[in-house]
Amino acid sequence: MIRRKITKARAVVQQSVAKIFNTNHSTTEERIDKPPSRFFHSPLILFTREILHNPRAMGAACPSSRKLSKALANFVPLDSQGFVVELGAGTGSISAALLAYGIPAERLILVERSTKLVEYLRKQFPQAFVIEGDASHLKELLGDKAHQVSVVVSGLPLRAFPVALVQSILKQVDLLLPNGGLFIQFTYDLRGKMLHLPRHFHSIAHKFVWSNLPPARVDVYRNEKHKENVQSII
Ligand SMILES: C[S@@+](CC[C@H](N)C(=O)[O-])C[C@H]1O[C@@H](n2cnc3c(N)ncnc32)[C@H](O)[C@@H]1O
Repeated sequence: MIRRKITKARAVVQQSVAKIFNTNHSTTEERIDKPPSRFFHSPLILFTREILHNPRAMGAACPSSRKLSKALANFVPLDSQGFVVELGAGTGSISAALLAYGIPAERLILVERSTKLVEYLRKQFPQAFVIEGDASHLKELLGDKAHQVSVVVSGLPLRAFPVALVQSILKQVDLLLPNGGLFIQFTYDLRGKMLHLPRHFHSIAHKFVWSNLPPARVDVYRNEKHKENVQSII
């Protein structure tokens, strides 16, 4: 009688332990084959891995906050006709804000140099054009779309880059943007000194996002190559 009770109790304990460690009642091999947790594919983990590989290219401790991404996106005129190009799209926080704001995915081009982040962006935004490459070769990367750009939004950490790289990226932005086209950049330098941008880019608006960590500033510049005709594009 006592022995039967002990055997029954042992069976109950064994079943409970099995339930805790193996909720699907799968075998050990099945459990090993399971895909890794979504945690390891979260934007924050991807971003952190990239920082470890290339801290200078990332230039930030974490992806831009929703408020900062929204502040950038809201400066893009919804009625502009051409493509909106985002430089350094990372894990797509600004890209998501641009789409949520109303920029159609077919008009959004994301440029990113990291292969891993490009893979992630392609999965997240299957309708947008995601281009792997260095923003200093922008015109070449965009091919025939290079002639149809009206806005360039940048999440590039320009202050962390060598001057020569900043100059060549901004030269490409100038080549791409037509008269009246907009260049939107955020920075953690709250003084808003935009160095190396050609003189015919005029500052037309800015906004502070104090709740971002660290606080950031968004600046909007308009390309005014031909001042007399500047409103024509947007
Ligand atoms: C500060 S993170 C910004 C990511 C995202 N836009 C955000 O705001 O959360 C900068 C991103 O620019 C990318 N990047 C750095 N240098 C680049 C270059 N020369 N061309 C294209 N992308 C670059 C990095 O890989 C990184 O994803």
